[in-house]
Amino acid sequence: MNAFRKYWYVVAQSDDLRDAPLAAVVLGESIVVWRQHDGQPVAMADRCLHRLARLSSGRISGGVLQCGYHGWCYDGSGRVCRVPSAGSDEGRRRPRRSLPFASCECDGYVYVRLDPESGALDDAAPLPMPHWNEPGWGHVRLVNRFAGNVADCIENFIDVPHTAFVHRGVFRDSRGERIQATVVRSAGRVHVRYRGEQSNLGPWTWFLNPRRTPVEHEDNYIRPNITCVRYRLSNGYGFVITSQAVPIDERNTLVYTDLAYRFGRFTRFAAPFVRRAGQKVIDQDLAILAEQGEVIAAHGRRFSVSPPDLIHLCVEDIRRAIARGDDPQCLPDKTFDIEFFV
Ligand code: FES
Ligand SMILES: [Fe+2]
Repeated sequence: MNAFRKYWYVVAQSDDLRDAPLAAVVLGESIVVWRQHDGQPVAMADRCLHRLARLSSGRISGGVLQCGYHGWCYDGSGRVCRVPSAGSDEGRRRPRRSLPFASCECDGYVYVRLDPESGALDDAAPLPMPHWNEPGWGHVRLVNRFAGNVADCIENFIDVPHTAFVHRGVFRDSRGERIQATVVRSAGRVHVRYRGEQSNLGPWTWFLNPRRTPVEHEDNYIRPNITCVRYRLSNGYGFVITSQAVPIDERNTLVYTDLAYRFGRFTRFAAPFVRRAGQKVIDQDLAILAEQGEVIAAHGRRFSVSPPDLIHLCVEDIRRAIARGDDPQCLPDKTFDIEFFV
């Protein structure tokens, strides 16, 4: 059993889950997600018990899910409650059931856990999205399918050096600025606090940090698939980028990106700009990760390490512990400093 199945993964946005079933794939498992009559989400294997048609191509009728092939109906507990070709009593006479996966909703996302057993106590609920519906903050949500492995996506989302090359002129420029950071691996998480960043925020510097005061920047990895990047500026502005990387299979990952921002009186108008800039940055990452994924598929994963890559090794330690079936919170704590140039 894949130990990553113990964790919560996004399978849909709440607003998209209305009167039709949706299909999702997590860790190779095809899932149908739908809403029953009381509004609760239900997630089941996306195959009909009858002749294995995809339930996601069926419809919701009278609060139950009906397969599109011969019309078998499933209630919210996964029980077959109606078999049209066998008369109205068939569901009661021969109980058949497709056991649903655990599902829940949090901050506009529908989550599923494939394995009923939780990874650890504090994984009992999904992580709330930072600043969701918080006064003074704006929020933009983006969804992108990466042609890359989940581990490579996670690495990219908390990798500072690539921003000066992949996102040159958009995010940072390569100018040899010294950056120091303290890295802490603890309780199944990695926390990195950067020091020394001031003005290298690309063309947005004039708006975000016109006085070029020191920028507070921290990156977080939260097992098994979440990264959270926070910038705080001395004028009270700030933005937080939370990425949930949902593994579809070994080579594809669906990424839900939450961009929370606070730009003072400009917050109200910023959504279209944040959306456009965020998608532009992600498009550049989509291209480089697709390229990297192709080469890894052909030649395997033998990497070389420079100082900032020590952060990625900490993430790898945690993901390896999960893969072994261990609780990553039992790894010994680790703290160290790194220095690099951007
Ligand atoms: S395959 Fe679903 S009802 Fe026949
Ligand atoms: Fe990037």
